[in-house]
Amino acid sequence: PASTARLPGGNLSVGGVSLTDVAERFDTPAYVLDEGEVRARCRTYRAVFPDADVLYAAKAFLSRAMVRWIDEEGLGLDACSAGELELAVMAGFPAARIVLHGNAKSPRDIETALRLGVGRIVVDSPSEIARLAAQVGSGGRQKVMVRVVPGVSAGGHEKIRTGTDGQKFGLSLTDGSAQHAIARVLGQPQLELTGLHCHIGSQITDVKPYLVAVRRMVGLMARIKESHGVTFPELDMGGGHGVAYRAGESALDLTALARRLNGELSASCAAAGLPVPRLVIEPGRAVAAPAGVAVYRVLAVKPTGSTMFVAVDGGMSDNPRPALYGARYAPRLVGRSTTAEPVATTVVGRHCEAGDILAADVLLPGDVRPGDLLAVPVSGAYQLSMASDYNLVGRPPVVAVHDGSARLLVRRETQEDFRRRDIGA
Ligand code: LLP
Repeated sequence: PASTARLPGGNLSVGGVSLTDVAERFDTPAYVLDEGEVRARCRTYRAVFPDADVLYAAKAFLSRAMVRWIDEEGLGLDACSAGELELAVMAGFPAARIVLHGNAKSPRDIETALRLGVGRIVVDSPSEIARLAAQVGSGGRQKVMVRVVPGVSAGGHEKIRTGTDGQKFGLSLTDGSAQHAIARVLGQPQLELTGLHCHIGSQITDVKPYLVAVRRMVGLMARIKESHGVTFPELDMGGGHGVAYRAGESALDLTALARRLNGELSASCAAAGLPVPRLVIEPGRAVAAPAGVAVYRVLAVKPTGSTMFVAVDGGMSDNPRPALYGARYAPRLVGRSTTAEPVATTVVGRHCEAGDILAADVLLPGDVRPGDLLAVPVSGAYQLSMASDYNLVGRPPVVAVHDGSARLLVRRETQEDFRRRDIGA
């Protein structure tokens, strides 16, 4: 990833701004987002998938500026709550280019989606079909898709694999519940079924599972054509495109994905006598993760028999991914150079539990000391969006860097924020 590539070798700048300056100006911990990198990733998607609708998955990271960048770069948006919808539309995003997901949409989620006029709502369970139709009301017509489980196992961790039966998302291809739900949707005059959807998992680094999935989705489309005489204008293959978090890891090859996915889609449709639907994809991580860097200050250093513990001023409240998924990162010392030998180090947070580990067993210079700055590259996705108020440490600010200047996008959470919500009854 480009942001990471700019970091090694004592070069301590992102987007032309030194991380030391960011730390001084905005304090730590702070999340730095490289606007140029986000935009470049959007452009890569548009260039590699010129005939597809590319929707950015807002759950990876959302802010008003992010919404504007995504809009300006011509992507659509995948949202999964009234909150994400409201924020996006408030920031000026055209609702028609938003798709609403969710395995448990609340009445408010659906009311918000209908009021704002979202482009598609993705049906995820049989029980929501009649309710959705009723909320649309007679005379109305909402475009929907149906989320299908194609029976493909893929993804970087068990908790983020969503392509097989036995997990909560989507409707199974193998037990007939997808076919059944599709039939029910087709029977609702308030719903217009524009296509099928699947999302097989996240942090996928291999093209093959997508090819298997697309073949099965086309197979289902062929059966629906046979039984109901309908064909769909679009096919949404979800997101899941993996990124490299550490040197030596490889990201999903987007060029190969585009070529082989389009190839498989065309071939399968030709074989089944179906028109080729417009492809929709929903990358979140691959747009945002490589554009973000987390900056922490070292608060304590503790040599032990087994490892050197370096404790920083953030932790699992701003990045729960290591604790949740065993995610691995490559933190590095920034702001000063050293000739000290690297030693096996475990970078931990400041929270009150032993599982608060940011990076276990990484190599850092042996002279890391309190006051030093550590940067964690590839921190732009699923960190702040999953951040919590654990220990009332407060969520870090988000600083955008671009062409050598830095500006605050989201301010640090403060004591005052906590007091305001706790009404004291
Ligand atoms: N579309 C749907 C319907 C999704 O559920 C997701 C992610 C995406 C697209 C975007 O997937 P991506 O391209 O970002 O892999 N918190 C986990 C990841 C959870 C992904 C949830 N769904 C993590 O930190 O690894």
